[in-house]
Amino acid sequence: MSKQFAAALCVVIGSAVCLVIADDLRFEGHDLVEPDCDAMSSWFQCRDIDTAPPDVFLGYEYMHLTSQNLGPDGDTTYPDTGEPYVTTVTACSSCHFTGGHVPFGSPVYQSPSKYQPDPATGLGPYFRPLGYHRDLEDSIIDCFRNCMNAERAPAKDDPVMLALVSYIEWVADGLVDPAARQDWTLLPPQAGPRLPAIDGVAAMRADPPRGATLYADQCADCHDEDGLGAGEYRLGEERPRIPALWGIVDGYSRGAAFYRTPVLAAYVQKHMPYGDPETLSDQDALDIAAFINAPDKPRPAGMADEMYCHADPDGIPSALRKPADWLVGCEYPGERAHFDSQGIDFDDLVLNGPWDQLAAWRAAEVEHLLSVCAADIDDDGSVSQGDLAIMLATWGSCDDCPADLNGDFVVDLRDFAAIQILWGSSCPDGG
Ligand code: HEC
Ligand code: HEC
Repeated sequence: MSKQFAAALCVVIGSAVCLVIADDLRFEGHDLVEPDCDAMSSWFQCRDIDTAPPDVFLGYEYMHLTSQNLGPDGDTTYPDTGEPYVTTVTACSSCHFTGGHVPFGSPVYQSPSKYQPDPATGLGPYFRPLGYHRDLEDSIIDCFRNCMNAERAPAKDDPVMLALVSYIEWVADGLVDPAARQDWTLLPPQAGPRLPAIDGVAAMRADPPRGATLYADQCADCHDEDGLGAGEYRLGEERPRIPALWGIVDGYSRGAAFYRTPVLAAYVQKHMPYGDPETLSDQDALDIAAFINAPDKPRPAGMADEMYCHADPDGIPSALRKPADWLVGCEYPGERAHFDSQGIDFDDLVLNGPWDQLAAWRAAEVEHLLSVCAADIDDDGSVSQGDLAIMLATWGSCDDCPADLNGDFVVDLRDFAAIQILWGSSCPDGG
């Protein structure tokens, strides 16, 4: 459909609702995962980016033509250092398809509402991996660090940040239902603001060597055998037509959501192979994702090492609440040893599943810590010196000892580790 035709259609319909296809959103180029604006029209109205205010247009350029603007080949650099904002040639819209317009393709129309502060507390949603309440700008910062391989991210008042936020808010303004603009949970399921997991994935196990064969058959033609994507750049966009799936410069980091095998599998199944989506079986998608995330593939670290290293607000070590498919960040002491002692390779379990036994083990451990407010042995309201003294006094085999925090009939290093992690925190609720 030409632009003129789209404009004519608006006139004929004689309403504010004009059907606009992705080309008219100015996402021209080759091989884009595009939104079906027609099918979405009952809940989302695609609008021509050319009609947007200048700051929105700038944000669109940063999001979609990232490399040409913010990337290594771009001309928008940090004012103080002159360094580029991102070092990868990947664009934000390589993953946020068509600049965040595609259902299930990491859309952004839900984001302004999702990150609104709670009026009661003034805080945005709690982001467990980093242990803080975040707003929209924080989530953009996280994506710069974890998805775009950037050492530094723009400050919240940086012009690049302001433009990105304006653009994302403009996308969200396309939602037809004003109530859904305020409360994203009211979006219809087909809007796909959250990617649903593959059915029953927690009990499945991935087979990376099988995934290697499938990758060679179905993905390597475009993304290349070595995962670097196709070197050919999009016309005038200065970024690869086909993004890299791994690699130390252009791959997503070990702190990215895609580094979770089941998450990547669900996304791949929904959108890939390009032009032939929703053709991979659950097992095929999982095996391919496990091959892409296998430890032999080089990847930047992003914020991986900083994740899950704090206690949650209720005092529970956040490492115990990691999704079972999340490999990086701090570990709950004793956990790896527990699985090792059963002859299970812990890394392999986290990367390839099945994930339900690890999830169950952690849930039981959390339950236990909460139910007895375990580490506050002397009940003085905080985990401190007095608790350690009791623990040391009853070290060793022990029947019904308060210092046996995990209830395994011995006071040992695992109990000590819990004290260490919770040191100084106040007693969790329920104690
Ligand atoms: C490698 C893929 C990838 C790249 C590149 C990428 N992102 Fe993301 N981004 C994601 C994923 C996956 C999520 C998490 C979505 C979820 O949790 O449902 C996310 C989350 C976000 C969110 C929060 C969305 C929400 O509603 O929770 C924003 C905003 C965002 N990214 C902006 C950006 C910007 C701006 C860039 C470029 C500077 C970028 N992203 C680059 C994959 C990517
Ligand atoms: C015909 C070419 C083609 C084939 C085949 C293909 N892809 Fe893609 N892939 C693309 C293009 C193009 C994009 C970026 C689309 C865009 O920017 O809108 C992409 C994007 C992606 C992304 C998101 C971007 C990122 O950096 O993570 C993933 C993941 C992905 N493909 C995985 C796969 C997997 C796995 C297969 C095999 C099952 C596959 N693709 C097959 C062309 C292809």
